[in-house]
Amino acid sequence: MSKPETQRWIAIARTGDVEPSDVRRCEVEDRCIALFNLDGRLYATADICTHAHAHLSDGYVDGDTVECPLHQGLFHIPTGRAMSPPVTEDLKTYPLRIEDGQVLIALDA
Ligand code: FES
Repeated sequence: MSKPETQRWIAIARTGDVEPSDVRRCEVEDRCIALFNLDGRLYATADICTHAHAHLSDGYVDGDTVECPLHQGLFHIPTGRAMSPPVTEDLKTYPLRIEDGQVLIALDA
């Protein structure tokens, strides 16, 4: 007997919506998600910085990091790890999957 699926997968974008080395803001239900394209691989994190209220989708993507536009805190995109002050709390990351050209996010993961 297979385990029941507990995650809800919700379409947030199409695969071509985010250019390489770029980020796009996606609003889904009550959450603001940052969708990153790192060399063709997509990652989703919370869009709001863990330090104060700034949108990381307005930040600067450099390699696999994003710099917050407000106080220049740095996060590692694939893991959400806080890398440099003033950020100390990691970002939430979300699993993604691609189906028929749609990017699906698991919100309850
Ligand atoms: S709000 Fe992001 S580093 Fe301060």
